Amino acid sequence: EHLDPHVIVLFGATGDLSRRKLLPGLTYLALSSLAPEVQIVATSLEDLDDDAFRAFAFQAVSEFSTRPLNKEQWDAFACKLRYVPQSAGPEALAKAVAEAEGELGEGVRRLHYLSVPPRAALAVVTMLRDAGLVERSRVIMEKPFGTDLESAIKLNDQVHGVFQERQIFRIDHFLGKEAAQNILAFRFANGLFEPIWNRNFIDHVQIDIPEVLGLDRRAGFYEATGAYKDMVVTHLFQVMAFVAMEPPTALEPRAISEEKNKVFRSLLPIEPRHVVRGQYLGYRGEEGVNPESDTETFIALRARIDNWRWAGVPFYLRTGKRMAEGQRIISIAFKEAPKSMFPAGSGVGTQGPDHLTFDLADETKVSLSFYGKRPGPGMRLDKLSMQFSTHDTGHAGDVLEAYERLILDAMRGDHTLFTTAEGIESLWERSMPLLEDPPPVKPYTPGSWGPNAIHQLIAPHAWRLPF
Ligand code: BG6
Repeated sequence: EHLDPHVIVLFGATGDLSRRKLLPGLTYLALSSLAPEVQIVATSLEDLDDDAFRAFAFQAVSEFSTRPLNKEQWDAFACKLRYVPQSAGPEALAKAVAEAEGELGEGVRRLHYLSVPPRAALAVVTMLRDAGLVERSRVIMEKPFGTDLESAIKLNDQVHGVFQERQIFRIDHFLGKEAAQNILAFRFANGLFEPIWNRNFIDHVQIDIPEVLGLDRRAGFYEATGAYKDMVVTHLFQVMAFVAMEPPTALEPRAISEEKNKVFRSLLPIEPRHVVRGQYLGYRGEEGVNPESDTETFIALRARIDNWRWAGVPFYLRTGKRMAEGQRIISIAFKEAPKSMFPAGSGVGTQGPDHLTFDLADETKVSLSFYGKRPGPGMRLDKLSMQFSTHDTGHAGDVLEAYERLILDAMRGDHTLFTTAEGIESLWERSMPLLEDPPPVKPYTPGSWGPNAIHQLIAPHAWRLPF
């Protein structure tokens, strides 16, 4: 596949996301044969020069790249990097981009990566317009896309004043994870599962993404965002849409967005009484956090998708910082057998329903748990499990990190794994009851599974984690 050479303009280049994911990912792509020839113009609010930025990037890549680089490779990447402070204004940016284009020859495209908070996104878009960097360009926008319905509509309108929707790639890196895409393969490439993928056979669904990680260096961003906007309205709902959507007419962007958007439209508004907001003890004392902060670092909620397939099937979502374990699972609980012929004490039903579990960890796993007979006399039952892992495929080395996959897709102009303005707006709309009247945060101990109220929320079911 031929791809035009690209100048990648990275806004927020010294931020946390850039350090952890974007610079390591760009390094990999730039040195691999997957991506076209690239040059990178980095920019941020910090006043650095090319050398200082290269040193920053070197640090980031050494610390966070999952694939070690040798000096030769680093040098080959470093010479593709330029830095221009955002304060230097649109002309300076345009000049740096023109220089970078000069290194690449004919037919160069531009990819602007906006790794900036929602309140800064518009200023960047305006700057791109003023710098004349709209033609031959695509723009990747980072979540959260706005902070509520009104700001999302406004942001979409204003961005549409400069870029056309087909130029815009709203990134949700969870959709770039192998395991998320595997949900589509699993559901729609097989005849086996789809017939039971509905309210007649499925009891409930859990999407559970606890993190051990705390704020790290992101207090400023996190205080203004919180777990709901940082994770739920983006990643968890996006993944939920892959689980819940109807089969699309084709595996192409429009068809997939249509089906996802239908799920969002069927989502019932998120009611505060079905939400547990939590804040870990000690959060208010952290640097950069308001001592009276009401920002949630944890959230669990019950969502309902009110359509023919899912009516009556609760979707339980949970995520938070400083929790007991880092996990990313989607767990589908099937209804129990209608009648048990097994003797009391045989163990049937004591270990919960049968589950299909997608593990969105870097080593993707799918497992199915069910009752089977324990070897030996009599009839004793145990939970058994069948498991598949990417490591078993022999292709584990081909896995791209989510950001790598999605940046590459944006360079190819492929919107399949990106989200639309309409989808984002419906999600904010469904979120408004919660945003307007959030229940007070409940404290939880760092290293736990969240406030106690999570058990009432899910009763009579139980959280699958910890395994
Ligand atoms: C990001 C959130 O989008 O996703 C972070 O802003 C979170 O708060 C991260 O830690 C989790 O992503 P991953 O890929 O590490 O599970």
